[in-house]
Amino acid sequence: MKKLLYIDSCIRNELSRTKRIAAPIVEKLKERYEVETIVINELELDPVQYDENRRRAGGTVSEEALCWANKIKNADRIVIAAPFWDMSIPAALKTFFELCSLFGVTFDSNDKTCFGLCRAENVMFITTRGMKIETGEPLEQATPYLKALFWLWGIKGFETVARSNFDYLPAEKIEEEISSAIKEGLEIAETF
Ligand SMILES: Cc1cc2nc3c(=O)[nH]c(=O)nc-3n(C[C@H](O)[C@H](O)[C@H](O)COP(=O)(O)O)c2cc1C
Repeated sequence: MKKLLYIDSCIRNELSRTKRIAAPIVEKLKERYEVETIVINELELDPVQYDENRRRAGGTVSEEALCWANKIKNADRIVIAAPFWDMSIPAALKTFFELCSLFGVTFDSNDKTCFGLCRAENVMFITTRGMKIETGEPLEQATPYLKALFWLWGIKGFETVARSNFDYLPAEKIEEEISSAIKEGLEIAETF
């Protein structure tokens, strides 16, 4: 069975509307993939700063980071669930990606440029936003960042399942939006 890595970055955990959308979609994907889950909240990550950067430059990479980076490298598909925070993704998820962006694991370089080493063909990004900001608008900086990062790592396919205005819609409308996002994600899951 092919491997799918699910990166759960729903920081509000059981309160998260994004997580409610992602859960049934990931469940459906379990029919076709062996799913491994990384829960960002459980990792208690520190930002990559001077000392870590120096260790890396000297060739020392933490065992944990190497293990996570290899999971990304070897996954056939990746699903990310994360809310829209400060017009992008939560910093903890950005930190996780910085830790996983390792020369010789997720990407490499030759004498001219960088190139990716990851095998996944496709990423599904599931998100909800507080304001009415749609995917592709200049104010939406989560999808462009993630697309660019996965491009660096050699992964070209990218699908965003998003719903917006969740901080302003009435509760019943949010429920409708959650249901329609699940439906959309399940349809993508058929061929993902
Ligand atoms: C720390 C924080 C930062 C946020 N930043 C933004 C933002 O920049 N733009 C926006 O539209 N909504 C923002 N929101 C609102 C969330 O995107 C929105 O409530 C979303 O549905 C939360 O997803 P969740 O229910 O899965 O946690 C923010 C919420 C929090 C808690």
